[in-house]
Amino acid sequence: MTIRRTFWVNLILLTSLGVLHSCKRDKEQDPAPSDPISGPTPYVHDAPSWLLDSTGHVIQSPADNPMTLEGIALGRMLFYETALSDDYSMSCGSCHGQEDGFSDARQFSVGTDGSVGTRQAMSTFNLLWDNFLFWDGRAPSMEAQAFGPVTNPIEMRNTWPTVEDRLRNDAEYPALFERAFGSPGIDSVRVVKAIAQFERTLLSLNSRFDRYRYLGETTALTQSEIDGYRVFTREGHCVDCHMEPLFVSHGMRNNGLDLVHTDLGLGGVNNNPSHNGIFKVTTLRNIEVTAPYMHDGRFTTLEEVVDFYNEGVQLGSPNLDNHMIPWVIAGGNLGLSEQQKSDLVAFMKALTDDEFLTNPEFSDPN
Ligand code: HEC
Ligand code: HEC
Repeated sequence: MTIRRTFWVNLILLTSLGVLHSCKRDKEQDPAPSDPISGPTPYVHDAPSWLLDSTGHVIQSPADNPMTLEGIALGRMLFYETALSDDYSMSCGSCHGQEDGFSDARQFSVGTDGSVGTRQAMSTFNLLWDNFLFWDGRAPSMEAQAFGPVTNPIEMRNTWPTVEDRLRNDAEYPALFERAFGSPGIDSVRVVKAIAQFERTLLSLNSRFDRYRYLGETTALTQSEIDGYRVFTREGHCVDCHMEPLFVSHGMRNNGLDLVHTDLGLGGVNNNPSHNGIFKVTTLRNIEVTAPYMHDGRFTTLEEVVDFYNEGVQLGSPNLDNHMIPWVIAGGNLGLSEQQKSDLVAFMKALTDDEFLTNPEFSDPN
């Protein structure tokens, strides 16, 4: 009898503490506290049905990191947690801002000590189908990726033991980790798992293009955008590498930016010279707000990008991708008219998803 009563008293105490806690943080967004008996609450993705019906993109998380409401809420806090950086000045969100499509508006990201990197911070949404992350594809999963920035000497410049100590001594995190993982304990593996769970909720699939293409709203695009879509799929050959519906490739490629590769890309990771200059084909969704462009942020506008593809491709670039053969055939000049170029830019801007960029569920919870 006594044990039973203690159990129920504890349950009620835990539950009410949890409720108080979530009220303090964020009334709308926080999930209800997890039930100590059944554990964290499974999360069901809110993806549009066309994604599954017409593109076959199945949504699933790794077996060892199932998504739960509590895990996602924790991951969101950690994504915006400045205690991850050595001097408490920087979170993941500092270089991956929601209004910038979770990318960095600066050409190169800057570390906590002011040191400047050599790559542009890429966006971090629609990544749950990717098994190669970073421009050079060196991380095989979102979990593996999230280990990197914390200790990177040109990013957060911290150590994992320091991060773990800070979170363990925090007034709130120990209970949040327990609710998210069903048992007490804070370590780096749980930190990256929670962050990855949050990142897997970052789906952007509600642009005007989607309403036109997948929901049959014929008036969702202007004539110029529709013409630009045609250039994208035909004369521009863009769709060969930036494939619908995510506008990414299954592989990494060299799109002919340089005659000499100063950044080796994939070749720098696996030391295979035939992979030098090969980079991840990043998504074109929300591309309007993720400037500057390319791995080194060399282009500041989409017009510059289109000019590059139209007439600036380096045909002599070592390891030029097979999908660039149309450029070789055209002698390096696609011959797009001014109208076609501006239509192409207009089309890319129709891939902006305002609902995603302003969704309060993805913002800094503090
Ligand atoms: C100082 C700025 C900075 C901080 C802080 C930072 N990142 Fe990044 N992030 C970058 C840059 C730059 C790249 C590209 C680096 C490369 O390719 O080598 C990147 C790449 C990524 C990618 C790869 C996306 C893709 O399409 O492959 C993910 C995911 C990501 N960051 C998540 C995070 C998370 C999670 C955190 C916090 C733990 C974080 N970042 C902190 C700058 C930053
Ligand atoms: C051979 C495959 C290929 C083709 C064809 C191709 N791209 Fe790309 N695209 C890439 C790769 C690879 C990158 C990243 C390159 C880098 O940064 O080194 C990229 C990057 C981009 C970026 C910048 C993305 C960012 O996050 O900074 C834009 C915009 C873009 N491409 C638009 C286009 C358009 C428009 C076309 C057609 C005219 C096109 N691409 C054709 C492979 C391709």
